[in-house]
Amino acid sequence: MKIIETVGDMRAQVKVWKKEGYRVGLVPTMGYLHEGHQSLIKRACRENDKVVVSVFVNPTQFGPNEDLESYPRDLEHDAALCQQCGAAVIFHPTPAEMYPEGYCTFVDMDILTKELCGLSRPTHFRGVCTVVSKLFHIVQPDMAYFGEKDAQQLAVIKRMVSDLNMDVQIVGCPIVREADGLAKSSRNTYLSLEERKAALVLSKSIFAGKKMVESGEKSADKLVNLMKSIIEKEPLAKIDYVKVVDLMTMQQITVLDRPFLAAVAVYIGKTRLIDNFMVQEV
Ligand code: PAF
Repeated sequence: MKIIETVGDMRAQVKVWKKEGYRVGLVPTMGYLHEGHQSLIKRACRENDKVVVSVFVNPTQFGPNEDLESYPRDLEHDAALCQQCGAAVIFHPTPAEMYPEGYCTFVDMDILTKELCGLSRPTHFRGVCTVVSKLFHIVQPDMAYFGEKDAQQLAVIKRMVSDLNMDVQIVGCPIVREADGLAKSSRNTYLSLEERKAALVLSKSIFAGKKMVESGEKSADKLVNLMKSIIEKEPLAKIDYVKVVDLMTMQQITVLDRPFLAAVAVYIGKTRLIDNFMVQEV
C-alpha cells in the first residue's frame, strides 16, 4: 500500500488504473480511523479493484472555535488499518496542497445545509462539499463511501452529486457501535471516563425512539419529546438539537408519513457528539 501526498502523484496513479480498466473506490476520511471507517474500507475493497482512503483533516469544514488543532491524528495507525483492509493507497495531502495560497473557490448548498448541524455549524457543509468535490476530481472514483452516522452529510453529498452531475455512485454504510451502544467516532477519544458513561444517553435515546416508531407512533413531536426526555436526565449532557426531518430535504416534519431521519446532537462536556436513526420505508 502506498501513501501519496500530492495531487499530481494521485492523479498519475489514477490514470494508470483507469488505463487498466480498474474500478476505483474512494473512502474520504479525516483519519484516526476506527471500526466505522474499517467497515467502509472493507466494503469499498469488496466492490472495487482499487481503493483510495483519503486522510485529510479538512480545515475549511471547522468553525473558528472548533477542534481543528486538537482533532486526533495518527497516520501510522491509519496506514496499518488501511493495509489490513486491502486499500491500495492512502491519499494524505497537506492543507497547503489542497488549499494553496490564493485559493478562493468553494462549493456551497442551500436548504439541506441550513438545518440540523448547519444551524450550529454554519460554514461546515461548505467545507465538506468543497473538499469532497476536490477529492472526486482528483481520484475520479466510480464509487465513494460515507457513514450513515453523518446522515445529513450523506444527504448533502448525494444532492451535490445529483445537482452537479458528478459521475460517482454514493454508498451509505450503517453506523458501527461500541458494545454498549455508543456510535463509533474519532471524537469519542476526547471523553473522560465519566463523560464516556454519560455519552450513552445518545444511543439510549436513539434506541428508545426506534422502538416507539416500530410500535406504530406517527407523531414526530412525541418522538422528539421522548428522545429529549432521555437525554435531559443526564446532567453532563447539553442538547444542541433533537429533530425529525424529511430524509431527502432535511426539513422538519410533524407526521411520520414519509422516509425520515431522527437525529440528535449533544454536547457531553465540551465534546459534541451526533447519532441518528433513519426510516426509509413507512
Ligand atoms: O466525514 C468526514 O470525516 C469528513 O466530513 C469528510 C467527508 C472526510 C470530509 O472532510
